[in-house]
Amino acid sequence: MRLERGESAVRLGFIGTGNITAAMVEGLGGGVVLSPRGAAMAADLARRFPDVTVAESNQAVVDQSDMVVLAIRPQVAEEVVRALRFRAGQKLLSLVAATPVEVIRGWIGLDLPVIRAIPLPFVADRRCVTPIIPPDVEVAALFDRLGQAV
Ligand SMILES: NC(=O)c1ccc[n+]([C@@H]2O[C@H](COP(=O)([O-])OP(=O)(O)OC[C@H]3O[C@@H](n4cnc5c(N)ncnc54)[C@H](OP(=O)(O)O)[C@@H]3O)[C@@H](O)[C@H]2O)c1
Repeated sequence: MRLERGESAVRLGFIGTGNITAAMVEGLGGGVVLSPRGAAMAADLARRFPDVTVAESNQAVVDQSDMVVLAIRPQVAEEVVRALRFRAGQKLLSLVAATPVEVIRGWIGLDLPVIRAIPLPFVADRRCVTPIIPPDVEVAALFDRLGQAV
């Protein structure tokens, strides 16, 4: 995707390919890597949008991404996130309901930036006002493309 970090584009990967991921990919117009769960949705997005790939595992999504979007339900989030190995320089964008960023940072075991956002399905039409916390320039740029970040 076309978010920039310094000289290069930010690679965006999604863990969980369900309804909100589909809405974001529609709004962005492609250019992301998806996790394999939600296989039918992932295959549909890969067919419809340019530069959308489906990784073979959640870890492969992390390995291929600069910004990792957590788009899984709260019930499975801890188990899924604890199983992943992140690296310095990455950023997490959590869409997981009712889960503070401090909790997620505890699961990843590294002191990485974790930003929380609450998008709505209107991101698909790029007309969603999306709250993000804490403020972050890259995440704000992402949601400005999908409407407006606040
Ligand atoms: N929908 C919204 O409008 C909205 C808005 C803001 C925030 N959120 C939050 O975003 C999160 C996702 O919501 P959603 O509506 O997109 O849910 P959803 O449609 O149920 O999608 C959840 C996805 O997670 C996948 N998944 C389950 N276990 C997994 C695992 N171990 N590894 C990787 N993926 C796994 C599911 O795959 P399978 O189908 O194969 O089980 C499914 O593709 C939730 O925390 C929700 O609260 C949603």
